[in-house]
Amino acid sequence: MHDRLATLYPQHLATVREHADKALALGGFDHLLIAAGMPGLKFLDDLHYPYAVSPHFKYWLPLTGAPGSWIVHTPGAKPKLIFLQPRDYWHVVPDAPSGYWVDSFDIVIVRTAEDAVAQLPQGRCAVIGEATAGVAGIVINNPQPVMDYLHYYRAYKTPYELVLMREASRIGTRAHRAAEQAFRMGESELGIHQAYLAAAGQIDAELPYASIVALNEHGAVLHYTEFTRTPPQPARSLLIDAGASARGYASDITRTYAAADAGEFQALIDAMDAAQQSQVAMVRSGRPYADLHLHAHHQLAGVLNEHGFIRMSAEAAVASGVTRAFFPHGLGHSIGLQVHDVAGFARNDRGDTIARPDGHPFLRMTRTLEPNMVVTIEPGLYFIDMLLAELRDKPVARDIDWARIEAFKPYGGIRIEDDVVCTDDAPENMTRDAFALN
Ligand code: GLY
Ligand code: MN
Ligand code: MN
Repeated sequence: MHDRLATLYPQHLATVREHADKALALGGFDHLLIAAGMPGLKFLDDLHYPYAVSPHFKYWLPLTGAPGSWIVHTPGAKPKLIFLQPRDYWHVVPDAPSGYWVDSFDIVIVRTAEDAVAQLPQGRCAVIGEATAGVAGIVINNPQPVMDYLHYYRAYKTPYELVLMREASRIGTRAHRAAEQAFRMGESELGIHQAYLAAAGQIDAELPYASIVALNEHGAVLHYTEFTRTPPQPARSLLIDAGASARGYASDITRTYAAADAGEFQALIDAMDAAQQSQVAMVRSGRPYADLHLHAHHQLAGVLNEHGFIRMSAEAAVASGVTRAFFPHGLGHSIGLQVHDVAGFARNDRGDTIARPDGHPFLRMTRTLEPNMVVTIEPGLYFIDMLLAELRDKPVARDIDWARIEAFKPYGGIRIEDDVVCTDDAPENMTRDAFALN
């Protein structure tokens, strides 16, 4: 993989520079300054929160552990990395940069955050970073036209980025296999999580997001991030939503498993899996993502009918909000340097947006699909007490089999999530390709 990255990186950097040049021209700036960022300090403490590098910084080069560093881009000049390597015997000091990308930068090594800022050019600067990245002498401004432009184009992944995202998928699926095995061995949520981390070879802070490891009813809590220490008896189902990182790029993968004797719940998983794969097949250039989301609601209505939960047409189930009670989140989102990547609503590179369809406030993407965008496809079907109670008060409650719903509540819910590349032709399912190799 290293050779491929070395071959592809120059083209990636050329693309990044081209976007930066245009963004600067648009905003009327001479230089782009990007802060890597600093770890936040805990209240009344001398300890820091885990450090997360700015996505703008890691777009340029694969450095995720160099807080206080800066990238300087001036159109026409070689980009500059101001690399902070503090004199410090308390912490591990970042190694001097090495690897396939270093020759593309002029590298200046500094010892303090203030020395880094002293190296920044003066003049009309677009300065991108968190407010907390600011050090005396520099004002972060995150100019909106520059941000809009850069975010819009970040959705189109370069071949270099796709290699890293396939790698993140490979690591994640390997770890998912280990997690499934731990579930089948009767491990607790914490035990499954530990099996996942061990197989991924990553610690929590390195993962692109906090893993969801939910046994039984916990699968109905969309962002369940507890880790119970004792396995339930019996463990009927596992919903695991966990990703991995590769040089700053994310994978985002969910699988739902049933215990060997959970016949009907397994059939429901199989129906959702078939629906999910047909939604993945719709990741085609020119399609608005919101169409896929609405189509997923109609398919869910079909699954709910076939499995005896509701007795109504798909149209009625969607229009009356029944499907939203079972599937109350969006079908997916753009993914890349961030697990929920930027510009999911972009209509163009000038900051105009495409509204969500009415009644779907949690959809994270309305953008029209184009080649080299990467999106997740993650339909769900959950038995959530709060939403079912609301449904029970509506007239449509007559056409719902409440006893059947009660029977499935102990399984929590189902989500199946893949990361999919839009191409000129059929989509590339990075997650399923990676599962097939692991
Ligand atoms: N794991 C976060 C998500 O699926 O969006
Ligand atoms: Mn996701
Ligand atoms: Mn996920």
